[in-house]
Amino acid sequence: MDENKRFVTGLDVGTEHVRAVIATVNKDGAVAIVGFNEGASAGMRKGMPANLTGPASSIDQMLGEAERMGGYEVRNAYVSIGGSQILSTRTEGMIAVGTVEHEINLDDLARVETIAVSGRIPANRDVLDVVPLEYALDGQGGIKDPLGMSGARLEMRANVVSALSPNCENLRKATLAADVKADRLIPSAVAAAKAVLTDRQKENGVAVVDMGAATTSVAVYEEGDLQYVGVVPAGSNNITNDLAIVLAIDPEMAEEIKTRFVTGDFDSEKSPVIKIGKEGKTERAFDRKEVDAVVQARLSEIFDEIRKKLKAARYDQRLPEGIVLTGGGAKMRDIDLFAKKCLEAAVKIGVPRGLGGVSESIEKPEFAVAVGLAMLAAEQGEVRSEPGKKMPKLPKIGKDMMGKAGFLKKIFARF
Ligand SMILES: Nc1ncnc2c1ncn2[C@@H]1O[C@H](COP(=O)(O)OP(=O)(O)OP(=O)(O)O)[C@@H](O)[C@H]1O
Ligand SMILES: [Mg+2]
Repeated sequence: MDENKRFVTGLDVGTEHVRAVIATVNKDGAVAIVGFNEGASAGMRKGMPANLTGPASSIDQMLGEAERMGGYEVRNAYVSIGGSQILSTRTEGMIAVGTVEHEINLDDLARVETIAVSGRIPANRDVLDVVPLEYALDGQGGIKDPLGMSGARLEMRANVVSALSPNCENLRKATLAADVKADRLIPSAVAAAKAVLTDRQKENGVAVVDMGAATTSVAVYEEGDLQYVGVVPAGSNNITNDLAIVLAIDPEMAEEIKTRFVTGDFDSEKSPVIKIGKEGKTERAFDRKEVDAVVQARLSEIFDEIRKKLKAARYDQRLPEGIVLTGGGAKMRDIDLFAKKCLEAAVKIGVPRGLGGVSESIEKPEFAVAVGLAMLAAEQGEVRSEPGKKMPKLPKIGKDMMGKAGFLKKIFARF
């Protein structure tokens, strides 16, 4: 292995699927995908572990193939986190930094960040990210990067992303039981955004909506920063379950109807009957109007919930770059057309593109989260030492849990 390269891994632990992306990063920061895999997920409910053994063994099984392909044994990863317990909180902090001639340094930024966070986030929550939105020096606001600037009083406005500590801890334990340390936990939509959005979209105003099996998450960007993140506890599996109940069929047949016959273009002319069968024989026939009504009702409900979240965050109808859909749920044909009606915004499907290596094989909306996680991991360790350079992203979950690995392995040895 070239010494100028290092390996990074994105691990998307979803309710229905686990996905991994292994990439190399060269010294210029160029990312190339070298390994990937996806597999079924067990023991996850609504985006969070319901037990430890299920997700751990799913991750373990799935990683094997990705590791063989990438020629690298994964020890650390950036891991996705889902669940409606994820919160965005707006906070503010202020510190005195000395005389007016004082030049703002990295210590000052760390101190004002601590003040902005401490006491604002309940003790039972882990802080996943602190996004500085704006700084003010001696009362003058609108400053994006105060490093090296002069002033005596520094204020900061931030978006603090947090999740319930027990959920974070269980996710870390589950990955650790598969011998992978979660360096950071990143909300799914934030990871997907990294993979599918351009800087220009993030600057102008855009949202990513990641529709998974059991959750749909949203991340809003404006002025280049993550402004809001939220999760709705319903996803594309709810459509399957509704179809199974209303049509009195098993979930496998409902899934086949959803993935093969439903399109989001509900008003277009289509055959009024959906026929399912093997080897040319019709086993069952379904009234398309009935199927469409079920799918439309559930999709409307999910998009309405997303719209409510955007409205609460004051972003509905305020996104010039519109909405980008990712996740397995975004694979429904023409879903963008229906989403556009519900969300009253321009809607596109987001696929991760433009990376080197074997990235073409994973240019699919359901791989956006895993690719984005690997890309975020690739940025880890970028250090800002002079004004104008990138802020160091300090690991916020750096708890050393290696001691527990042995214990969990012992539990696993019994399965
Ligand atoms: N062609 C398709 N049309 C409609 N839905 C699809 C299609 N392909 C996959 N799906 C749906 O995508 C969902 C799985 O998406 P994904 O793998 O992103 O979920 P997940 O990450 O495991 O779940 P979550 O993010 O909610 O924890 C399933 O509900 C599946 O039925
Ligand atoms: Mg997902």
